[in-house]
Amino acid sequence: MPVVTTESPTIAKVDEIIEKHLYEESALIGILQDTQKELNYLPKEALKHIALRLDVPLNRVYSVATFYRAFTLKPRGKYTISVCLGTACHVRGGKRILEEIERRLGIKAPDTTTDLKYSLQGVNCLGACALGPVIVINGEYHGQLTPKKIEGILKQYK
Ligand code: FES
Repeated sequence: MPVVTTESPTIAKVDEIIEKHLYEESALIGILQDTQKELNYLPKEALKHIALRLDVPLNRVYSVATFYRAFTLKPRGKYTISVCLGTACHVRGGKRILEEIERRLGIKAPDTTTDLKYSLQGVNCLGACALGPVIVINGEYHGQLTPKKIEGILKQYK
């Protein structure tokens, strides 16, 4: 007979994180942060498991997970592309940069490609206004962009 296991690899990772936080209800935000870091987003099964292990109502876990913008309940791509739409970038064509990336990826911000390679989002000032228009891909800044430069940049993230 095959061994029946109820624990998925995802749940095993979540368990490790909860254990690290000593099953403390007060560590809920930290647990969600670590879970998202590990899984790239917060799957439903992870949220349910956290509620169960911490013995808190599921709707409390959901309300924290949906309150903070840093958390996402939808799968995210391997690469997160943030396009600055702050004032300095906007006046230098930030919107055209966003439109060019949307066209190339075939999605609209904020969305993720079906192959889970790219997530695209428009954001406010990224703190590098002098380099505008600016995008950030997984923490790497690309500035002084034109729509023509986008193809070459995306090629660096395969
Ligand atoms: S407005 Fe784009 S980096 Fe500041």
